[in-house]
Amino acid sequence: MNFLEQKIAAEGKVLSESVLKVDSFLNHQVDPQLMQKIGEEFAKLFSDAGITKIVTLESSGIAPAVMTGLRLNVPVVFARKRKSLTLVDGLYSAEVHSFTKRETNEISVSKDYLTSDDVVLILDDFLANGQAVLGLMDIVNQAGAKLVGVGIVIEKGFQQGGQLLREKGIRVESLAIIDSLTNGEVTFKREATH
Ligand code: G4P
Ligand code: NA
Ligand code: NA
Repeated sequence: MNFLEQKIAAEGKVLSESVLKVDSFLNHQVDPQLMQKIGEEFAKLFSDAGITKIVTLESSGIAPAVMTGLRLNVPVVFARKRKSLTLVDGLYSAEVHSFTKRETNEISVSKDYLTSDDVVLILDDFLANGQAVLGLMDIVNQAGAKLVGVGIVIEKGFQQGGQLLREKGIRVESLAIIDSLTNGEVTFKREATH
């Protein structure tokens, strides 16, 4: 098991056959040293891609994205789920439907922070059905920026997002891929990177 899989095995709580709770280090409390290692791994994987910007989604994508941005020395933009008072015009927006939460959010990024000159790495904490990543890709497309890949902290390999994105020819690098959550146990897929 890699460092992240070990952390998930030690602290992750299986809530059901499809949901893993990782509030102790990723979704509520944040483990800065773990985030730093995650940032180093993504930076290594995408070091030759010419990335100029990392794009993520608030809130849990921000910590791993910032550590990756620090390592790659590029800015990090997080799409907002709610319209800010000071951010009204000049937005790229996309609809993201969550099957898990049964709700649709409009996510948006200011045109000031994403342009056709950008070479983008999309990062997120979880990959389930892939709807958040598709929404971020829509925004990257609207900006005319170039997408070089997607970095995911924890991919749920038994849901459709990973396959959906890889079938589109997108480079998806997940630091941990969960094969199943049956019987209250986390089983990992072997090919997860690093
Ligand atoms: P999708 O984008 O891949 O289609 O995912 P989905 O709609 O299922 O996910 C909705 C939210 O739930 C996302 O967080 C996602 O990260 C999270 N999520 C999905 N599956 C799991 C899981 O098994 N465990 C945990 N801990 N989270 C999961 P969000 O609403 O954007 O919230 P935030 O944490 O970023 O604030
Ligand atoms: Na999340
Ligand atoms: Na997320």
